[in-house]
Amino acid sequence: MTTTTHIQETLQHVYEKYKDVRDGEVATYIPELAKAKPDDFGISLATVDGQVFSVGDWRQEFTIQSVCTPFAFLMALEEFGRDAVLEKVCVEPSGDAFNSIELEPRTMRPFNPMINAGAIAIASMIKKSSRDAGVRAYVKKMQMAAGRTLNLDHAVLASETATGNRNRAIAYLMLNYGIIDAAVDHALHQYFSQCSLLVNCQDLAMMAATLANKGIHPVNQEQVFGLEYVKDVLAVMFTCGLYDYAGEWACRVGLPAKSGVGGGILAVVNRQLGIAVYSPRLDAKGNSVRGIAVCKDLALQLGLHAFEFTNVGSSFMEWLSAAK
Ligand code: DON
Repeated sequence: MTTTTHIQETLQHVYEKYKDVRDGEVATYIPELAKAKPDDFGISLATVDGQVFSVGDWRQEFTIQSVCTPFAFLMALEEFGRDAVLEKVCVEPSGDAFNSIELEPRTMRPFNPMINAGAIAIASMIKKSSRDAGVRAYVKKMQMAAGRTLNLDHAVLASETATGNRNRAIAYLMLNYGIIDAAVDHALHQYFSQCSLLVNCQDLAMMAATLANKGIHPVNQEQVFGLEYVKDVLAVMFTCGLYDYAGEWACRVGLPAKSGVGGGILAVVNRQLGIAVYSPRLDAKGNSVRGIAVCKDLALQLGLHAFEFTNVGSSFMEWLSAAK
């Protein structure tokens, strides 16, 4: 059996194993998200040498939601540098829900850029003088990371704009403490637009593989992100990417990752590959139920945990090329 067949079969096997799981609920607090088909299920894996494997509903588009936050954080780091960004947002796990309104009590900064508060602070930094220009710059970067043209879901954007009062409250609290500037609506428009980007599973796997590949797109070799800050982002994904499940995730899966309430989740195996799962039924913490199950399973089967000892001296990519 060739390696590519083996990987495809591994994905197929994991897909079959979890395809009948019906636990969890589709997010409804943004009314438009309730329209997702709860049973959709796709998995993609992209290697840093440009091979892509996918199963199930991987072509189904969904909104990226919080999975945008590592990329927005990276854009802010590239534009303003580490010190200026850390003046506005900490890089500490919050241990709290993604929509927590709490700020770090000493400096009143949001705990990290992966929860809503931090993501809004970052959106406020990367917004441009016009609303469209800031959104365009973000979409352009995400298209480069995905390697294809992407669009916003304007219905989801309108739905969150109409109902996102908790995020509005978080933003005004941050205005009060000087974390964001007075253009609160503008910052929220940037954030809601970022969350409304339509992607499929393969896009997320490619974005994750771009992070794994030192910021270089694995297929077209374009330098999407500068190398300097990718490690900051992976570190924060590792410690904060799964909200109040981040610690258990680090133990059980052991990979930098990010989830979103649209049902997407991506994980990065540094220098090796990107993994993405789409399944919109969420657990109580807002993470995709089957997304977590698949990542746990693949990490175990392929020895992907960052601190794995059973594969000492080898790696998934070495195994991949040795088996060619
Ligand atoms: O701000 C919100 O609530 C959503 N636009 C995104 C939240 C999200 O994806 C958190 N994830 N699990």
